[in-house]
Amino acid sequence: MIKFNNLNQEKPYQLLKEKYDEALDLGQENIEAISISSFNKEINEVDSRYVNLKFITNDEFIFFSNYDSPKASAFNSHNQIAALLYWSSINAQIRIKAQIKKTSKKFNQKYFFDRSEKKNALAISSNQSKPIDFYSEVKENYNRSLESDDLKKCPEYWGGYSFTPYYFEFWEGHESRINKREVFDKIDGVWKQFFLQP
Ligand SMILES: Cc1cc2nc3c(=O)[nH]c(=O)nc-3n(C[C@H](O)[C@H](O)[C@H](O)COP(=O)(O)O)c2cc1C
Repeated sequence: MIKFNNLNQEKPYQLLKEKYDEALDLGQENIEAISISSFNKEINEVDSRYVNLKFITNDEFIFFSNYDSPKASAFNSHNQIAALLYWSSINAQIRIKAQIKKTSKKFNQKYFFDRSEKKNALAISSNQSKPIDFYSEVKENYNRSLESDDLKKCPEYWGGYSFTPYYFEFWEGHESRINKREVFDKIDGVWKQFFLQP
């Protein structure tokens, strides 16, 4: 589930919420899974991964991750990302472009404090995406963290990312194949709305 707080009143946000409610009503699973594509300028490489979108607060989309991970290096090198949602229950794709930034330490600490200790032990003990010789070591590191770390203290290397879209495309699949593609492109602070051919 995505938590909506004080959702922005502008059209693309309201449309997103409408689609979300429709998909949720039809029992959409993993509704919060969102693909984030990044470009790392240092290594000249594009990459994608799913994350769980936790909040949409006004116009900010927020997820949490490791600040030393490959995605974090990519965001540091190039802060523009593409995000993608697909809700099969309503056959809808939402494409987003945005600039991404870290959330504040205060926000991270509060969110971390409220999470389960088990989740926090994993966040603390995992050097996300770094190689490890055996899977059993991951479990050992996790168990050690559960026993000995302060599981309420958010480490410096973990926290939120926030992005505010400047481009949305809502793709709606139709049985006729005459699919509907509606774009909202923010230019000079104003949403320009138009359709694309399927
Ligand atoms: C449905 C789904 C949700 C995920 N949610 C998160 C998440 O919220 N945060 C996160 O760091 N990784 C999440 N992951 C794992 C990431 O896809 C990825 O493996 C990890 O963040 C490392 O990515 P990186 O090497 O590009 O930094 C999720 C994976 C899946 C399949």
